[in-house]
Order: sequence, then structure tokens, then C-alpha cells
Amino acid sequence: MNTISFQPFIIGVAGGSGSGKSTVSQKVLAAFGADMVSVVMQDDYYRDQTHLSPEIRPQQNYDHPQAFEWSLLVQHIQALRNGETIEMPEYDFTLHNRSDRTITVKPAPVIVIEGLFALYDADLCDMMSLKIYVDTASDIRFIRRMQRDITERGRSVESVVGQYLETVRPMHKQFIEPTKRNADIIIPHGANGPAVDMITTKVASVIGQLKRS
Ligand code: C5P
Ligand code: MG
Repeated sequence: MNTISFQPFIIGVAGGSGSGKSTVSQKVLAAFGADMVSVVMQDDYYRDQTHLSPEIRPQQNYDHPQAFEWSLLVQHIQALRNGETIEMPEYDFTLHNRSDRTITVKPAPVIVIEGLFALYDADLCDMMSLKIYVDTASDIRFIRRMQRDITERGRSVESVVGQYLETVRPMHKQFIEPTKRNADIIIPHGANGPAVDMITTKVASVIGQLKRS
């Protein structure tokens, strides 16, 4: 087990589907590198669905908080805080299920938790030092989602539209948008340059303090 002698600086990055939260997180990672920043993607904590047939899996509601294995996510964040390395599940959107691989995530001075519901759980919010909500307009989010789901997640135009109307849109309004009030910072227009600069400046100062202490 690795041990670290400081509490990591935990950043939550929430926002609707297609808002740009993965991009914000990857920019923070790119700015400081994997030794300094570890990213935990909440998508990888979608529940295991091996017990469901491949025909049933696409019909599940993936935008409800209950779609995620919260206990494992909280356990893993606590482990990272304690300086332990975790084996994060890997989610395969084309299968609507976990893959048979895991992703090794090492403890780091900065941990980014990124996902639809990153600012939903009170215990997780309590562990965060910076809570960010990426507040991109719904038409832009829908366009991005359509393009991504077709090119990267093996979906059709019909399935993207149907899912958006049936679950993505209503769940966003009911569960995700209200978590904006838990945020310290609300970023408009996705991963916009000045906002990312402000976040990386803050992270640089935190890392600088750690190096001096
Ligand atoms: O990256 P993004 O936040 O958009 O990923 C979350 C989205 O993935 C959710 O809005 C959910 O509808 C979608 N999803 C899906 N199929 C799954 C699991 C999640 O379309 N099997
Ligand atoms: Mg994403």
C-alpha cells in the first residue's frame, strides 16, 4: 500500500450530459500530469449489469442516481484519501456494462471526481475542496451528445433522440440541475479557456503549498 502524508485536494466536476465536464477534468490532468492529478470518472461506477440480457440493458434509466454503485465509489474515494491505490471498474458504453478490465488509479495530491452526479451525494461533497458545475445550454449538450453517442458509443439517431426525451432530459431537470446549488463555481459554455485557467491557477497554488510544506 502507498501512503501519503497529506489530505488530497478533491475537486468535484458535475454537469449535464455533454456539458464538457470530462474535457474540464482532462485539461486539469493535462496541465499537471498523472503524478499530481488522478481523475475518477463516475461513469465507471455504473452498476454491473451482467445479470441483465443485452436486449434489456439499453432500456435502463442511466440518468437516475440509482444507476450507480455509490458504495463502491465512496469506498474508492476514501481509499485514495488514505493513500491507497484503487482498481476502478471500466465501463463499456457499447455493451451497457462493465468491461472485464479495471483501471488502476493511484493516490495523488489532486483528485478530480467527474460525473453527472459528482455534486449529488452529501458525503462526497463533504470530502471536496472545490465543487464545480459545468452549466452548458441544453441545445449544445444535445448536439454534442448526439455526435459522441453515434461516433463513440455505437448508437443510432433514433436511439439518442428516444433516450434523450425519455430519461436524459427529465432526469437532468429532476436530479442533476438542482446540484448546481452545491457548487462553489459555475462554469458557463463548457470547458471555456478563462474558466479552465482559473481552475488550473488554483490547483497550481495548492500543489505549490504542498511542495513547500
Ligand atoms: O459523459 P456523459 O456525462 O454524457 O455520460 C453520462 C451519460 O451516459 C448519461 O446521460 C447516460 O444516459 C449515458 N449512458 C448511456 N448508456 C449507458 C450508460 C450511460 O447512454 N449504458
Ligand atoms: Mg463524459
